[in-house]
Amino acid sequence: MTDGGQRRRNGPLGSVLVIIPTYNEADNIELVTARVRESVPDAHILVADDNSPDGTGKIADELAAQDDRIKVLHRKGKEGLGAAYLAGFRWGIEHGYGVLVEMDADGSHQPEELPRLLTALKGADLVLGSRWVPGGRVVNWPRSRKILSRGGSLYSRVLLDLPLRDVTGGYRAFRSETLQGLGIDAVTSQGYCFQVDLAHRAVRAGFHVVEVPITFVERERGDSKMSRSIATEALWRVAVWGVQGRVKRLLGHRHT
Ligand code: GDD
Ligand code: MN
Repeated sequence: MTDGGQRRRNGPLGSVLVIIPTYNEADNIELVTARVRESVPDAHILVADDNSPDGTGKIADELAAQDDRIKVLHRKGKEGLGAAYLAGFRWGIEHGYGVLVEMDADGSHQPEELPRLLTALKGADLVLGSRWVPGGRVVNWPRSRKILSRGGSLYSRVLLDLPLRDVTGGYRAFRSETLQGLGIDAVTSQGYCFQVDLAHRAVRAGFHVVEVPITFVERERGDSKMSRSIATEALWRVAVWGVQGRVKRLLGHRHT
């Protein structure tokens, strides 16, 4: 576990909303919602669908019609994972949930591990499901993807000076007060560097960030949306944040 800040909330967690962003997850959405339902029966689920051409949004509507703890946010088109999560967070905050969870639709983030993340959140502001702490692992990833992920975390960790092992992971549990304290309205990251952006903001704001080990299982159905443009966005944005942080610190020191 890593302590990334000073603040720590110990209050009750309140109601849980699991946000699942989807783009062409027709083969996965029913199973993942059923697994969440089984694992954390009281949690509500918000599917944030970017008008998937494969009809994921329609399937989600059918699931929602049978279970009033499932909600669907229909978005007009593919705008990236970050935008879908931001819309989901705003919806969750407006509706008064105490905990907002990020989870992929493809089974990579095992719903059976969610109770462990929620338990850790009782003594933290933000919990990161981590592949790169002892006990964490990845199943069925090619070597190239492991190198990309570890390299991405190392790059972000060094440039942004973050005391975290898995900076890009997308299985997370936030207290809603934490998200409200991060200034999410200013977030413009679209792809996976959205995850780096939020982790960086949380550490910088002094929140207590805890990593718990997870087993990430690569999807069996459908395709990953990882692309060269998503990786490039992460590379340049992280470099810009790193330089901005250093410049701020330099200027700050000069005045003291
Ligand atoms: N609404 C919406 N819009 N959802 C999207 C979009 C989009 O533009 N792009 C991806 N998603 C959804 C997918 O449908 C899936 O549920 C989830 O976001 C993750 O997408 P994947 O394509 O399966 O991501 P991945 O397996 O390559 O990447 C995972 O690991 C990365 C770090 O290594 C994710 O957990 C990333 O968040 C994480 O950064
Ligand atoms: Mn995936």
